[in-house]
Amino acid sequence: MTAIGIHDLELATGHYVVSLTDLAESKDIAPGKFVLGLGQSEMSVLAPDEDIVSMGASAAKPLLERNGTDGIRTLLFATESGVDQSKAAGVAALELLGLPHNVRVAEIKQACYGGTAALQAALGIVSRNPTERVLIIAADNARYQLDSPGEPTQGAGAVAMLITADPALLAVEPADGISTTDVDDFWRPNDSTTAVVNGKLSIDAYLDALTDAWGDLQDHGGPAIGDIDRILYHQPYTKMAKKAQQRLRQVTGDDISTALNPGDEVDGRDTGLETSARYNRRLGNSYTASVYSALASLLDHDDSLAGDRIGIFSYGSGCVSEFFTGIVQDGYRDVRDAGTIDAALDRRVPLSIDEYRALHQGPHGTSADEVTPQVTDAPFRFAGVHEQARQYEAR
Ligand code: CAA
Repeated sequence: MTAIGIHDLELATGHYVVSLTDLAESKDIAPGKFVLGLGQSEMSVLAPDEDIVSMGASAAKPLLERNGTDGIRTLLFATESGVDQSKAAGVAALELLGLPHNVRVAEIKQACYGGTAALQAALGIVSRNPTERVLIIAADNARYQLDSPGEPTQGAGAVAMLITADPALLAVEPADGISTTDVDDFWRPNDSTTAVVNGKLSIDAYLDALTDAWGDLQDHGGPAIGDIDRILYHQPYTKMAKKAQQRLRQVTGDDISTALNPGDEVDGRDTGLETSARYNRRLGNSYTASVYSALASLLDHDDSLAGDRIGIFSYGSGCVSEFFTGIVQDGYRDVRDAGTIDAALDRRVPLSIDEYRALHQGPHGTSADEVTPQVTDAPFRFAGVHEQARQYEAR
């Protein structure tokens, strides 16, 4: 059977960054709560002329420059911070990227799980016709109310992935474990620009979904825990991955290490908990992009993965989750330039807490006409709203 999976991936984020130490101090909270308790050091913040479309297209641009556009007949855009109730964000991205018009485009939504739903659809399309390639963009702007418990877990990021036959990075294996339960742990009503969340319930729902999806993977012929070398989790904040690893250790009895922070004592088998958390620790939550950002971090910071099996747990509140596995391909190191994402994170412009709060309270997601100031230095920008329609341009 032809191997199908992730051939290449790229990550983009917002123009601004907020230090979580600054955020904690502005609230008279000990910084250790955010930095160690949540495992987050920074969060990306979008400029007024950035959104999921500009960020997603910016992630896809270098991917297409490296791989060309031949054979791309599908673009799936996964997001839970959609900018329109009808038109798929990917249609604007297609135009910005100069993709041909003979490409089917659709938006996929199920909270942070949307990127994995897109991946599963893409695997099906490519298995039907292995000469086709599918472009996936998973992009989100994670926003909670100011001064709410969720505020330090905000962030923004986009991951673009090319799904092909004979992939260069990760061949996805056929067995998967799925779990869906109707639960109100986190959602965003149509009239709200920030998420509504029951934080403690969301943690329990995530961990119960992990237990159930793992059991379903075992019931469907998936590999035993001892045959999985590295494990990636959806990371709303990186401490959540540690909680997940603790749960999986409990459920499987395997001595997988729960050491998350550099310098923590490794208390068992190292499955990449720390190496996969390096980007998300600095990005904050990127919802649909988060677990694929964890994949990028692992691939970029571990040069001994060739032939290894990776387990990936994708969770989307509400809730739908999936545990699947893939095999890292020989030569994966030749595909990625490991310093690129760190450099993009370093380039972000720091915001003071006053500037960040003003930006958070500024216009967001309205259909009122506006012309946005030119701020971002990304390849594409959100230029404003004209006659209720969002306008984009290449810079
Ligand atoms: N030094 C070190 N650690 C400290 C500390 C200090 N000074 N002070 C507190 N801590 C620790 C606490 O002990 C706690 O650790 P544990 O979780 O290991 O017990 C941690 O810091 C957080 O403290 P609290 O539990 O008191 O934090 P909180 O109640 O204010 O908020 C939260 C935490 C509920 C996760 C909140 O940030 C939130 O609502 N976030 C959004 C929802 C979310 O991300 N849920 C995750 C699962 S849902 C999902 O994954 C989907 C998604 O993307 C949203």
